[in-house]
Amino acid sequence: MNAEQLVRLAKEARNRAYVPYSGFSVGAALLCSDGTIYQGCNIENAAFGPTICAERVAFFKAIYDGKREFAAIAVAGGKAGEEVSGLFPPCGVCRQVMREFCDLDFKLYMARENDQFETRTLGEMLPLSFSPADLRD
Ligand code: THU
Repeated sequence: MNAEQLVRLAKEARNRAYVPYSGFSVGAALLCSDGTIYQGCNIENAAFGPTICAERVAFFKAIYDGKREFAAIAVAGGKAGEEVSGLFPPCGVCRQVMREFCDLDFKLYMARENDQFETRTLGEMLPLSFSPADLRD
């Protein structure tokens, strides 16, 4: 599974989004270290607060299945029903959830127009992060 394929799976996952309020669909494809892939989409709620992002859906599906080692995630977002037209950076809450389970060299592929995407590490996306190691003595 290369980055291009993972980005394609993130775009595909956008079709599953439940976004009656924002009309903004997000898809994620999470690559576990053992090669397994989990896709996620954003799922909104009339009370707004319970809305969950695509990235966390992908992570929580994987965690439930017992996965604990992750290599990379691809994300894609944009107006529902339309192609990705600009860079989509994951929100701060999702970055923090990634930090719970991933090392700083975990890779993020952020889709942009056409078949392009930007690559960053979690360390670049969440500098000076608080992690489980900070609770250990
Ligand atoms: N959203 C995500 O799915 N992931 C993010 O990292 C940021 C935002 C969703 C939440 C909401 O359904 C919509 O995008 C607009 O904020």
